[in-house]
Amino acid sequence: MLFNIGLASLYLAYLVAFSTAVHGAVAYFRNRKFSKANGCEKPRNVAHTREPIIGLDFLLECLRNAKSGHYIRYCASRLFRYGFTYITRRATFDTIHTADPENLKFMLATGFDNYKLARLRVNAMAPLFGSGIFTTNGPAWAHSRAILRPSFTRQNMAPLLAMMERHFQMLLRQVPKDGSTPFDVQRLFFCFTMDTATEFLMGRSTNTLDPSRHTEADRVFVQDYLDCCFEAVRMIASGPLQAFRVSSRSLRVSRDRAWAYVDRFVDDALAKREARRLNPNKEMMDTVDKEDYEKGAEYNFLEELAAQTTNKTLLRDQVLNVLLASRDTTAALLSNMFYELARHPEIFAKLREEALSKIKGELPTEAELNNMPYLRWCINESLRMYPVVPGNTREAVRDTILPVGGGEDGRSPIFVKKGTPVLYNLYAMHRRPDIYGEDVDEYRPERWDGLRPGWGFLPFNGGPRICLGQQFALTEASYVTARMLQSFETLVPRDAEPWVEFYSLVMCSKHGVRVSIKPVKSVAAM
Ligand code: HEM
Ligand SMILES: *[C@@H]1O[C@H](CO)[C@@H](O)[C@H](O)[C@H]1NC(C)=O
Ligand SMILES: *[C@@H]1O[C@H](CO)[C@@H](O)[C@H](O)[C@H]1NC(C)=O
Repeated sequence: MLFNIGLASLYLAYLVAFSTAVHGAVAYFRNRKFSKANGCEKPRNVAHTREPIIGLDFLLECLRNAKSGHYIRYCASRLFRYGFTYITRRATFDTIHTADPENLKFMLATGFDNYKLARLRVNAMAPLFGSGIFTTNGPAWAHSRAILRPSFTRQNMAPLLAMMERHFQMLLRQVPKDGSTPFDVQRLFFCFTMDTATEFLMGRSTNTLDPSRHTEADRVFVQDYLDCCFEAVRMIASGPLQAFRVSSRSLRVSRDRAWAYVDRFVDDALAKREARRLNPNKEMMDTVDKEDYEKGAEYNFLEELAAQTTNKTLLRDQVLNVLLASRDTTAALLSNMFYELARHPEIFAKLREEALSKIKGELPTEAELNNMPYLRWCINESLRMYPVVPGNTREAVRDTILPVGGGEDGRSPIFVKKGTPVLYNLYAMHRRPDIYGEDVDEYRPERWDGLRPGWGFLPFNGGPRICLGQQFALTEASYVTARMLQSFETLVPRDAEPWVEFYSLVMCSKHGVRVSIKPVKSVAAM
């Protein structure tokens, strides 16, 4: 009997080993065939981890650098060391790292169907922000994109500029005007974009910059939203250990409360839609609580979306997804740019001259904002040095390729096995001397004179999933900058420490951006 069991298990072990070997061999030959058909060569650059199974040493090194605020720079330094496309090999899985424009073009555009968002990101975000444009792939994503796009292709920005101006006035009130007191302009930008994004999306602002209107419910919502963001970041950072993380009860309470806050506006939008259907000729403002709506809030993303669907979950999820995509990103762009402007008085002066000469009335119009080339250079240069989304990941949907990284010279395609994560690093690509010149670490807007880096410059991504809010973001950043230039004569850096990355959902400065300003006369009198 015992003997039989022994024999049986031996047989079983043999069978397992044999089938694994056959499996491996079949996969090997299939991959080789696929590689050959696609002209793939061996990857030129391979980084081995010291601990060979899951690469624990690499993981720990990442964590150590994240802790000291050097994660992005560390990842970039590896690309400069190993090559702009390299593979990190472990026994259990490979990851591919790249900062090559050709590879990004393939992954994000020409070979779009072969790649999707990484599971790590979707699994981290969907439980907190629902399933919307930012957290889905395939047909669900295409559907999201189709219903959201019309809201971003509107012609008239004037009502949005008026809305931004109201919040800018609140920001201006919080700026010390004695010409010397330092303040954190980054904090103000993050408040500002929270206030404008919520008003744009839901028709009512959180008013974090306006104490007279900022309610307890608004305050709680902002905190809940931040808690959810923080948790999403921690989930993503846990990497392969993500599956073992359980979110706390208090976090689930925060999430449910944030969802309920948005649901109220969803219900309002649907009530308006229903009322409009029943009585198409009447102005519908009286069906909802008028006090909740800002005067002049002529545009409301949620209402526009509610014209296309009555699915409440879908409406809430999309609002949360777009809030996530829009708020921190625009604030980080402004903060990173002002960090450099404060350190370059000559650039600040030149930019100010452009604003004062181009803006004819009291407030900038959309046409005037679009006609400030030096401002666009400054914005591009900021997005180059400090890409707001500095790193991102895609995952191979099936066995596929990347066009460069293989062979002796690294110019041949490489094979990418189904499921392999490809990490792309824009921080590194945007600082490649072969694309931008030797002075890559210098903030020099003039370099954009005639520069056309193509797929070497990707702050808003590219291909079918290119940022939907790019125009919105550029208009908002331009508007705020132009208004600052109109209001302040000087901008002086007052940081106690050098710039250290703070990398959560976006990259900005860990210690804030402390400055002081000298106001123009009319602002000084505020
Ligand atoms: C400086 C500001 C911004 C930057 C740098 C930026 C950057 C990006 C990037 C890199 C992506 C691609 C993410 C990925 O596919 O993995 C993206 C997607 C997106 N962005 Fe932006 N964004 C900014 C502002 C905005 C604003 C203001 C909005 C909305 C008002 C917005 C809406 C979106 C949406 C909806 C997507 C998802 C597109 C899709 O997956 O089809 N973004 N953005
Ligand atoms: C509503 O939308 C959600 C999320 O987008 C989706 O999961 C659900 O199936 C939709 N419900 C209906 C009834 O279509
Ligand atoms: C900024 O970069 C974008 C994207 O590469 C480019 O289309 C645009 O022309 C640049 N703007 C200026 C003023 O150089």
